[in-house]
Amino acid sequence: MERSEKPTTLITGAGIGIGAATARAFARAGYRVVVTDVLEEEGRSVADEIESAGGEGEYYHLDVMDTGETDSVVSAIQDRYGPIDTVVANAGIAHRVPLAELTDEKWDHTHEIDLKGVMRVCRAVAPAMREAGRGNIVALSSIMGVAYGWDEHVQYSAAKAGVVGLVRGLAVELARDGIRVNGIAPGYIRTAQALSEEHSLGPEGLEEAAEFIPMGRVGEPEDIADVSVFLASEGARYITGQVLVVDGGLLVGRY
Ligand SMILES: NC(=O)c1ccc[n+]([C@@H]2O[C@H](COP(=O)([O-])OP(=O)(O)OC[C@H]3O[C@@H](n4cnc5c(N)ncnc54)[C@H](O)[C@@H]3O)[C@@H](O)[C@H]2O)c1
Repeated sequence: MERSEKPTTLITGAGIGIGAATARAFARAGYRVVVTDVLEEEGRSVADEIESAGGEGEYYHLDVMDTGETDSVVSAIQDRYGPIDTVVANAGIAHRVPLAELTDEKWDHTHEIDLKGVMRVCRAVAPAMREAGRGNIVALSSIMGVAYGWDEHVQYSAAKAGVVGLVRGLAVELARDGIRVNGIAPGYIRTAQALSEEHSLGPEGLEEAAEFIPMGRVGEPEDIADVSVFLASEGARYITGQVLVVDGGLLVGRY
């Protein structure tokens, strides 16, 4: 086992967007970063970038819909480095599907990734974290899961609301083992997901949204990444079971 002083973080969906920014932020904070995604090229390039900057980053293919792959990636990392210190369950999809077209398959597909995918990675890392008596889990929800209703995205809102329940339940179940479980509910963040005309606001919609965000701008992936690093840090040692809204004041704003 190649042990070093560096704590290890595993991030799902870390090839692009919020996940990639999160990988870079943890590397800057001194973590060894396991970059996982189904996007091979993008994931490898994030890991390479971390290495070139003098950090430790490695890429693993991990489809969060696949229990076997989730378990085997986690056990490969644990065999090399010991218990994983932090997991950021970030992988997610948001597809536009009007209710009339919401087949069981489409509902299940979103839930398999956005909710069950979070559970799979938590279930895989928990035993070694418990044995070590420490660990941190951060899961990505959304303002669409904690406050807003998002039309034609019912399956997404439901899955993201499910993440809030998962965070609360797991936080209580794992607290005595020294493991904290928290979530982040981002507002509008400039990534491929939000920039998609087909499935979300698109570039113009995003700029229009900036007008009614009290801080006057949409979020950048780094705005969320830094909060994940904080939640995993010693500074957040007494926070568990919470989902932090990170939205530039959108939810509390009046317009
Ligand atoms: N961008 C926003 O405005 C926003 C707002 C609220 C919540 N979120 C949430 O933040 C997280 C990151 O979103 P983003 O905006 O960076 O999106 P993105 O589309 O840019 O990135 C999503 C990532 O998840 C990965 N992914 C998709 N299916 C996967 C699977 N089966 N297994 C592993 N990885 C998979 C993708 O390959 C990609 O790397 C998501 O959970 C998303 O729902 C985003």
